[in-house]
Amino acid sequence: MNQRSEVPNVRPAIASMRGYVPGEQPRVGKTIKLNTNENPYPPSPAAIRAIAVAAEGGLQRYPDPMATSFRMEAARRWGLEPEWFLCGNGSDDLLTILTRTYVGEGDLLRFPTPSYVLYRTLAEIQGARSEEVPFEADWSLGESFVRPDPRLKLVFLPNPNSPSGTILEPARVAALAERLSCPLVVDEAYADFAETNCVSLVRELPNVIVTRTLSKSYGLAGLRFGYAIARPETIDQLTKVKDSYNCDSLSIAAATAALADQEWLDANVAKIRQSRGELEAGLERLGFRVVSSRANFVWCTHPNRQHRALYEGAKAQGILVRYMDYPSWGDGLRISVGTPDQQRALLAILESLLARG
Ligand SMILES: Cc1ncc(COP(=O)(O)O)c(C=O)c1O
Repeated sequence: MNQRSEVPNVRPAIASMRGYVPGEQPRVGKTIKLNTNENPYPPSPAAIRAIAVAAEGGLQRYPDPMATSFRMEAARRWGLEPEWFLCGNGSDDLLTILTRTYVGEGDLLRFPTPSYVLYRTLAEIQGARSEEVPFEADWSLGESFVRPDPRLKLVFLPNPNSPSGTILEPARVAALAERLSCPLVVDEAYADFAETNCVSLVRELPNVIVTRTLSKSYGLAGLRFGYAIARPETIDQLTKVKDSYNCDSLSIAAATAALADQEWLDANVAKIRQSRGELEAGLERLGFRVVSSRANFVWCTHPNRQHRALYEGAKAQGILVRYMDYPSWGDGLRISVGTPDQQRALLAILESLLARG
């Protein structure tokens, strides 16, 4: 997108920002897609059946504005009341609602770096400032992450983090939240692939909000469905900011059925974890430095090869991975966990690219 400061009638904050650029989504040709952390397997059959039933059931009507069926299922899943949940058109929708609710023009939004690039865009849309706190060398977060600042209105913490796949344990997240005087949003897009999560902190600490998505562990990225978990009084405020009908009837039905099928989730997570270990080992055999991941992707760097050239070389042979370059931090490859066949194909291509020198 063009960076232009003078566009008639457009707010200067919008005219001067770059805009978020999503990962490549090729629609033609045969590509092995390991670039946007989708699940390589199709979703629960129950979700597909629910879409068919919902489509028969009356698309001439608006959907339920609060997605009640999903909230009831989520309440069962997490042992909370339905009032603790707000649904969104993907968890990006919830991150937007949260930023619009808490962060005004000139306010400060804080998040770690390197992490999810969208957070900065959300601050820019508000005309707010963002503060990016670097992770420590061991992917922990130091005291500067909770440094008091009167302008600080919201903190995002992706956990597990992207692109590293690393996680902060709930006790550490709780300690950080206790030091903050604003809400801490724990973005748990990838938490189903990890051993721990922070959902119980939402009950224990008034300033902790958790966001979740069905895009990754439930294999429903094409559906667009996510949810936030927060105290009912917080959910009431967020509800004022959301679009009236931010989730459609088909996605509500499918997401409700998917969440109910925990057997599918458990089996899928087991497969992804197994493949993740194989991907990490395969990359290490090729000489990459690999960060041990708790998510469905792996961050790797090579000590003496150009990452961009490896990305382009793999792309030329039909495999997409994500090349990430973080200013003043460095670059590398973020590779989504695929099927065993997809991973074998990728490792073979990387091996031949490395052999070429
Ligand atoms: C850390 C993180 N949060 C949130 C999202 C958004 O997920 P969705 O909008 O598909 O729910 C992503 C997507 O890649 C992500 O990496």
